[in-house]
Amino acid sequence: MKEQLSSRFMVYLVALSSAVGLGNLWKFPTLTGENGGAAFVFIYILSTFIVGIPLLICEFTMGRSTKSDVSTVFTKLRAHKAWNIVSWISILANFLILVFYTVIVGWVYTYLLKAIKGQLSNPSPEALDATFSSMTNSYGSFIAQAFVIIVVGFILYKGIAKGIEAALRILSPIFLVLLMIVFFNSIRLDGFGEAMNFLFKFDLSAITPAVIVSALGLAFFKLSIGSAAMITYGSYFTKDTDIPKTAVTVAFADVVVSLLAGMALFPVVFTFGLQPTQGAGLLFNTVPLAFANLPGGNIFTIAFFALAAIIGTTATVALLQVQYAVICEKVSGSKLFKVALLGGILLGISFLTMFPFSVFGNITFAGEVLFDFVDTVSSDYLLPLAGLFIAIFVGWIMKHTIIHDELGNNKIIRAWLFTVRYIVPIIVVLVFLNGIGIIKF
Ligand code: TRP
Repeated sequence: MKEQLSSRFMVYLVALSSAVGLGNLWKFPTLTGENGGAAFVFIYILSTFIVGIPLLICEFTMGRSTKSDVSTVFTKLRAHKAWNIVSWISILANFLILVFYTVIVGWVYTYLLKAIKGQLSNPSPEALDATFSSMTNSYGSFIAQAFVIIVVGFILYKGIAKGIEAALRILSPIFLVLLMIVFFNSIRLDGFGEAMNFLFKFDLSAITPAVIVSALGLAFFKLSIGSAAMITYGSYFTKDTDIPKTAVTVAFADVVVSLLAGMALFPVVFTFGLQPTQGAGLLFNTVPLAFANLPGGNIFTIAFFALAAIIGTTATVALLQVQYAVICEKVSGSKLFKVALLGGILLGISFLTMFPFSVFGNITFAGEVLFDFVDTVSSDYLLPLAGLFIAIFVGWIMKHTIIHDELGNNKIIRAWLFTVRYIVPIIVVLVFLNGIGIIKF
């Protein structure tokens, strides 16, 4: 009998623990800055509601109705063998995400250590910038990443992921409070007005194909859809979990956390004259500055990075579990062997993608260094591709009796099904074609 989640609260928390992560704190601000602000934010929110929520409902439904995870879900639904390709796309996307996600978690660990050592108190923007680039250009960040993989491997090996999820119950509200503190502190900064304009005041001309592709990709990445994670979580739901309501609540909470992170960090960017387009360093260059003018500021910086480290670690556990399930199916051996094998493969491949920061700096793929390329391919292409197939599967192939059995049959469900059958596939395909320049709109 498959384990089920007892309380409704636990259901939200577990789904949120996969959704909320460094995507909110690191990826959302980074991409928003790089893509010019409000237009990107607007398309991201729109994508979350029009494409994200319907797909989240699909994945939860597939998971709960089969009580299985990505590697077996299509078989259990008696789909043609070819559908297993979708599982493999998801598994590949999930793996590639791990490759760069563990790097970012490693940066967070590194900054936690720096904050504890007092190296981030009373910083200047220039000093912070130098700190960030020396970290990313050294082997230190590779060591930090290896450490992250060891920590996550250990959690997996010990089978204490559930215990950690319970701890999140206490830590998540604390984290939210901390984020609110940064936000309220940012309201007083001179750059607050400018930041709000940047985030929310847009003109239509700022919406380019590149912005749309990237915003849709972020919506997938944020909700962990297209990567099979949510199928697995759906399999833990009980019969009385209200799937549509859970999906809406999770998506809404996730967007709110992202916006809060944006409203907390961008005022710092504008007040201190930093570049919103600076890229991956944005989170790391702003948090210490945000706290610098508060009494006992460094304590806040430590707490912030500590909690970010925890949230990043649990999201990584969620990602690694998908890979672990695959390894278990394909490889026999002790648990330690399988975890070590997985960690080894991950580290080996990461080693290659990390290099652009140090040795092979200038080798580019489709105009991006390998590290960014892995991020773009997985979030912007593989996740939406898997999502497209999932929408087609649930909308057109899966038996409607299963759907109605899981979700009931009322106006809302019929509207959802319409969206899944027509709107989601059309949007994803148009965004793709538009993104690669085949059509223009
Ligand atoms: N959604 C998480 C975040 O925003 C990251 C994440 C966890 C994820 N599991 C995933 C992303 C699966 C894509 C697929 O940080």
